[in-house]
Amino acid sequence: MSRIQKAIARASQLRQEQEKEPAKKTISPVEAGAQEPVPQSEDGQFPEVEERNFQNALMVTQREQKGIFSEQFRKLKSEVLTRTANGQLGNTLLVTSSIAGEGKTFSACNLAVTLAREYDHTVLLVDADLRRPRTHELLNLPPGPGLVQCLHGEVQVEDVLQHVGIGKLSLLQAGGTVEDPVELLSSSKMKTLLNEIKHRYQDRFVVIDCSPALLFADTSVLAPVVDGVIYVVRERIARLKQVQQGLSLLKEANVLGVVYNGAEEQGTPGDYVSYY
Ligand SMILES: Nc1ncnc2c1ncn2[C@@H]1O[C@H](COP(=O)(O)OP(=O)(O)O)[C@@H](O)[C@H]1O
Ligand SMILES: [Mg+2]
Repeated sequence: MSRIQKAIARASQLRQEQEKEPAKKTISPVEAGAQEPVPQSEDGQFPEVEERNFQNALMVTQREQKGIFSEQFRKLKSEVLTRTANGQLGNTLLVTSSIAGEGKTFSACNLAVTLAREYDHTVLLVDADLRRPRTHELLNLPPGPGLVQCLHGEVQVEDVLQHVGIGKLSLLQAGGTVEDPVELLSSSKMKTLLNEIKHRYQDRFVVIDCSPALLFADTSVLAPVVDGVIYVVRERIARLKQVQQGLSLLKEANVLGVVYNGAEEQGTPGDYVSYY
């Protein structure tokens, strides 16, 4: 049985189980395929799994629409949609920051989930942080093969895409760390892969999480080949000088704006404020 057939059989088994238990509205990551990632075929077929509710308090979820994170990411989504609608912006977005720990992965995952909510957009989240890949952790998925193996020619993208369990959102994991990410990310294979991902579906958003701009050349290599860069600045983590230096490395890129993360506003620590 192929992986796709297995995924369809699994989805159908899940549906039957859920029909037997009508009271259970939210399924756990295991049921959504977290232990056994559900591949999505590149023809856009998504297995019909029930929507997921993330256990992680830092994730916006499909059901919880009123939290501060949800509200701010909806604003960010609306900015992205306005720009794509009037043709100013293409569909490929890179999320970066000056240094580590500023909330790149947090922002990339939540933006991808918010864009994909209610099945209104097809979204592919790509983990291109080949130093500290964490998207799968935030999305409660087990580590698996991904970008690295695709670039090494060991697997095809469509065989390693995971359906996250939120709308039409797929994840291409990093697939582990490598010694020289710059070499891999600047390779012609990476350019071909990005082009393929970008143009396969005109209306699909591609959100790419990557490493910090100031510390590594990974971002400067990727930034010019995407349509827009979202720069995350976390209060009390990055210094102004670091932000200026990081942004100056991205002069060639289309930096759309800054997401100001973790701001303390009106005495409420942990608030999330975005300027775009
Ligand atoms: N607004 C926020 N409020 C609380 N915790 C946050 C916030 N943004 C990020 N974090 C947490 O800070 C840590 C670093 O965030 P992460 O997204 O992994 O940063 P990066 O990818 O830039 O290294 C993670 O534990 C993350 O969950
Ligand atoms: Mg990260």
